[in-house]
Amino acid sequence: MDTSLAIQERFSFAVHIALQAGYLLKAGFGTSFSIQEKEGRHNLVTDYDHRSEELILSSISKAFPEDGFLAEERGASKNTSAAFEWIVDPLDGTVNFAHTIPVFSVSIGCRWKGETVLGVVYQPITQELFTVQKGKGAYRNVAKLAVILTTSFNDAIVGSVFPYYLAEDPLYCIQKFSSVLARGVPVRRLGVASIDLAYVADGRFDGFFEVSLQPWDMAAGLLLIEEAGGKVSDWQGNHLDITSDQPILTSNGHIHREFQEILNTP
Ligand code: IPD
Ligand code: CA
Ligand code: CA
Repeated sequence: MDTSLAIQERFSFAVHIALQAGYLLKAGFGTSFSIQEKEGRHNLVTDYDHRSEELILSSISKAFPEDGFLAEERGASKNTSAAFEWIVDPLDGTVNFAHTIPVFSVSIGCRWKGETVLGVVYQPITQELFTVQKGKGAYRNVAKLAVILTTSFNDAIVGSVFPYYLAEDPLYCIQKFSSVLARGVPVRRLGVASIDLAYVADGRFDGFFEVSLQPWDMAAGLLLIEEAGGKVSDWQGNHLDITSDQPILTSNGHIHREFQEILNTP
């Protein structure tokens, strides 16, 4: 089959299934459900993480049985050599969801031969649907996204999150966070990496940094930023491999170097 047709088909499917999973999460939000701890303190999983993931993965396996997947709760599929691989976070922002904070998303990316070719981040409470296809732009519902034009870090608003193992202070993240705060700019912590990244693409944030994210937190969001004209790298400005647990830096491109200098100043 023609690859671009195969990608288009998967894109339409991803939009459909992210909306379905979002409706499921919205219906469960604020109800009573089981909440458990995974590895690490405060790293929670609810019934709804599992229910949303089951909905997404069973739909993928019916529609595209030959595709592989990497999903947060179930892990990787057995067919690791599949050309298409779905990267699924069925509920990004579980801690918010469990505490009845209405900021969470469904994040779905799809890679073709190791390259992310499409992504969807759906925020059910605001009904904002962020979508992207490589080479075809990024959108919030029907609005085309473009990063904001802020050129000086002093005028920026940025986002960040801390990993669940914050108490170990990996890569001096507490000190790095303070260095950014010390510049006197607004720093927001939504607790939902996929939404933080979508906000950079949408020009709501000028940038976002974090010491460690998983592929399912960022596959869709990073492509949104690239297609909206922003920049994605590790803290040194090098190529970021989403499977390699590198620290991540994203921005509108204009403040990238300045942001990098702040993070790399001892
Ligand atoms: C978490 C969120 C959070 C980030 C964590 C992620 P989860 O995802 O995206 O913002 O700081 O590193 O694990 O557990 O809510 O899917
Ligand atoms: Ca996540
Ligand atoms: Ca999750």
